[in-house]
Amino acid sequence: MKILTVIGARPQFIKACMLSKLFKKNSKITEVIVHTGQHYDKNMSDIFFQQLQIPKPTYNLAVGSNSHGKQTGKMLGSIEEILLNEQPDITLVYGDTNSTLAGSLAASKIHIPVAHVEAGLRSFNKKMPEEINRLLTDHLSTVLFCPTTSSVVNLKNEGIENNVYLTGDIMYDAIIYYKNIALSQSNIISQLNLIPQDYYLATIHRAENTDNPNRLKTLLTVLSSLERKVILPLHPRTKSKIKDFNLNRFFLNSNIKIVEPLDYFDMLTLESQAKMVLTDSGGVQKEAYMLQVPCITLRDETEWVETVTAKWNTLVGASDSESILEAISKTKKPDEYPTPFGDGSASKIIYDTLNKYNF
Ligand code: UD1
Ligand code: UDP
Repeated sequence: MKILTVIGARPQFIKACMLSKLFKKNSKITEVIVHTGQHYDKNMSDIFFQQLQIPKPTYNLAVGSNSHGKQTGKMLGSIEEILLNEQPDITLVYGDTNSTLAGSLAASKIHIPVAHVEAGLRSFNKKMPEEINRLLTDHLSTVLFCPTTSSVVNLKNEGIENNVYLTGDIMYDAIIYYKNIALSQSNIISQLNLIPQDYYLATIHRAENTDNPNRLKTLLTVLSSLERKVILPLHPRTKSKIKDFNLNRFFLNSNIKIVEPLDYFDMLTLESQAKMVLTDSGGVQKEAYMLQVPCITLRDETEWVETVTAKWNTLVGASDSESILEAISKTKKPDEYPTPFGDGSASKIIYDTLNKYNF
């Protein structure tokens, strides 16, 4: 079986690593990796290939940053050419980025089956580019791998019931595999002079927060008012918007410590030892839950509804600093800990299912 994997953004490298390990072990499977180049800085891309031992991509499209249409369009043409040349049995895509949509659209138009890992997630907010990418990708996919029961229900509500598999979350597999390795190899806690449980870890990168000066200002007001240290690994999008909106004043005389985007081991280590995680990231919300760290989600809605129902995650939006600060001050670890993300065998279930198909 020849599998063509399309990845391009940070969270996709982390999601893809566990399946790539399984493909590598089977001599009857060839995985051709296409890196779209959506993320290209060393610490947004290469570092994950090295650390997670993902095979070097056969193709790097180097599309770089651009508007949605231009970026997706560039990917689409190049992926189509590669697909025609490689003739894979299946195209594998992950998550909800522009790279996901380009991969699924290019393949489905030329009748190459698409498998979508992390299918069925919905925020029900079509203003998010990710929501458009997920909706379209799910409707173009032949095989759909859902991480949670609610994602299976979302697909059912849209009439997608065939070839839908509940697998658990592949990011949980990665945490189980890498957590102890990360804790033993990372020295980020001492490097940043932190006391475990006595700092907050924050990430902000969603377009709806970074591109709106009022929302970004509200979030920086919150972070700069907290009484403990706040570690803020700064996504390049956020860095450039802080500069554009002239918001650097929030970092003067505050507890915020800005760091460059971190590698996976440093990130897992910081997440697992934090008092609380404050984020608008999908992956980071889930990882906080998987590591049993309370999370405040700086968005108006989430796809990871199970974390909210279980009370480990609180949705606070990004428009009212007072109410966000109040939510932070009231947050504590719940007693109950349900396990909505499976048992860490998502990659094995996906692998076995792909092997069953006769594409
Ligand atoms: C993308 C995904 C988002 C995902 C995120 C993960 C889409 C529409 N969005 O958002 O769903 O949560 O990745 O991190 O696909 N930049 C750099 N260096 C890089 C990459 C980006 O400087 O290596 C800067 C550029 O200024 C670029 C901006 O970041 O314009 C945004 O990058 P882009 O990939 O377009 O979107 P993300 O915000 O990263
Ligand atoms: N991550 C990382 N370093 C960072 C920030 C995030 O390794 O500085 C990891 C994080 O642990 C998670 C993934 O990147 O596995 C989440 O990606 P991101 O927040 O960029 O995107 P999203 O999940 O929101 O699409």
